[in-house]
Amino acid sequence: MAGTSGWVPSRYGSAQRFVIQPQAAPALAVLHIVMSNVDAATRARLDALIEEGSDLFDRFDREVRDKRFHPFVAASYDTVCDALIELRATLPERERRSRFLEWGSATGVVAIMADMLGFEACGIEIDDRLVDTARDLAKRHQSGARFAAGSFIPAGYRWKPKAGDGRMGTIGVGRLAYPELGYGLDDFDVVYGYPWDGEQPMMEDIMRLHGGPHALLLLMDPVAGLHVSKQRSPNR
Ligand SMILES: C[S@@+](CC[C@H](N)C(=O)[O-])C[C@H]1O[C@@H](n2cnc3c(N)ncnc32)[C@H](O)[C@@H]1O
Repeated sequence: MAGTSGWVPSRYGSAQRFVIQPQAAPALAVLHIVMSNVDAATRARLDALIEEGSDLFDRFDREVRDKRFHPFVAASYDTVCDALIELRATLPERERRSRFLEWGSATGVVAIMADMLGFEACGIEIDDRLVDTARDLAKRHQSGARFAAGSFIPAGYRWKPKAGDGRMGTIGVGRLAYPELGYGLDDFDVVYGYPWDGEQPMMEDIMRLHGGPHALLLLMDPVAGLHVSKQRSPNR
């Protein structure tokens, strides 16, 4: 059985690639390796997408991130894919067309995966060139995932942590992307993000204040795998 691989964000220089060998990683239990629950044709499409998405990131890492900082670091696509397959399997039939949003969608791999698994999938990315790449990738893989250029931060949102440091880390500022998709953040049932160190509380706060009341937030952690939560605010 092959190990699970991915990239750990590194602020300076290339991303660090990691491989977790199953026999050497007790934490692998949280990764929930699920190979069933998708038909062979869908599995083949997902595998082809993951392969191309991994090549795209390797190239981006060499050609862009080796020269200057860029916040795009790819998640472990295998880990995210397995989690989405499992999530979908837990949804009742009528909810399988749930709306899925990838925050900071970069080359769009995760949103395209979600589309292949039956979600109505969208991605928002602040770097216009990556949005073009994601749209091309979706076309090549016959995916209906839609991508908007701009920011996933909802209008009027301010990060005000109790500790007082409201800096946004690697999260960029840009025009609001939701109008281009025709949906607000609270129209999505599942929201996925891959935060850099320290940005997780802000993403949870955004969902608490602006997410749908029953929405799931999936946050990728390069070591622990995918963390799933509901961030419903008691005041909303
Ligand atoms: C760590 S990467 C995650 C890439 C991809 N979602 C994945 O999981 O493989 C974060 C991405 O968010 C984008 N980004 C940063 N700030 C953003 C913002 N305010 N709105 C939309 N995208 C943003 C970056 O350009 C980068 O591509």
